[in-house]
Amino acid sequence: MIDLRSDTVTKPDQMMRAAMAAAEVGDDVFGEDPTVSLLQNTIADRLQKEAALFVPSGVMCNQIALRVHTSPGDEVLLDAGSHIANYESGAAAALAGVQLKQIQSERGHPSVQAFNEGIRAGFYWEPRPRLICLENTHNKAGGVVYPLDEIEKIADLARDADLGMHLDGARLWNASIATGIPEAEYARHFDSVSVCMSKGLGAPVGSVLAGTDEFIQKAHRFRKMYGGGMRQAGILAAAALYALENNYTGLATDHEHAQSLAAVIGALETFSLRPGGVDTNIVIFDVIDGRSATEILEDLKEVGVLMVPFGPTTIRATTHRDVSSEDIRSASDLLRKLYDS
Ligand SMILES: Cc1ncc(COP(=O)(O)O)c(C=O)c1O
Repeated sequence: MIDLRSDTVTKPDQMMRAAMAAAEVGDDVFGEDPTVSLLQNTIADRLQKEAALFVPSGVMCNQIALRVHTSPGDEVLLDAGSHIANYESGAAAALAGVQLKQIQSERGHPSVQAFNEGIRAGFYWEPRPRLICLENTHNKAGGVVYPLDEIEKIADLARDADLGMHLDGARLWNASIATGIPEAEYARHFDSVSVCMSKGLGAPVGSVLAGTDEFIQKAHRFRKMYGGGMRQAGILAAAALYALENNYTGLATDHEHAQSLAAVIGALETFSLRPGGVDTNIVIFDVIDGRSATEILEDLKEVGVLMVPFGPTTIRATTHRDVSSEDIRSASDLLRKLYDS
């Protein structure tokens, strides 16, 4: 099978498994796991933040961040297509007790004007705006990179309006590889940043939340409350460190693969690529010949290619380190064979 469903389907290779087996470990709930501490320090340095916390998942990172930044009844402004609003099982309402003000946008990236218009005037009968969350790269929009100059303007707006800034940077690594802008250059505009080690980097588990010492101290308490305190987690942190050191530059290959795939899909009359092109490793396209996404996905599965539905007539294909150039060539041939009229 050529599995293009997600960049989370990768499996640890022998070298990563060897790094995991050799990890020095301790009980991290007692703060005694040296490999977890090393990962946390490495990510804090990389993002130029005071501290960082190893967390089981990207969802938990985002939800801890919302909890630290807000009080129940507060309002969080974010893109209507964001992961937090769409794919976290309603956790923002259930756990932090906040309401989400969902701002519409073209490619997952509301402008500073859109956020400005979304900030309420401050009457006591209104929910209190407290936080802006951005997503870079943006999953639902198709791995789109948030332009840095727009982020700067939104951060200025947030400062003026006394709002916090959180970045869902599950794929911040991809944004940096695509633009050459270091992760810290993006991160400096945010009070908290979440990054995932288990997406394109290929670690089996784990995300890291970074911020000030004070923010991370509070986050530590909520991680425990949410059941995310782990014991000999150094085995997982070792995989994350290995992934950062060895798999980071390979993200560029995933981006090239996504471009090749998009070129093939874009040339077929059955499909229409989302406008704006492909920035990183995610290709989103619509089926425009009257068939449903499910019908197309079943045909593709039969010939050995997996993708996921992203709407009734929308499909997502994601490239990753376990998909080779040969796989991309085969998937392209199969797509042409099935859909070139
Ligand atoms: C943008 C974004 N944020 C957060 C997450 C959540 O990560 P996890 O699956 O580790 O909870 C994902 C997962 O795909 C994502 O795409």
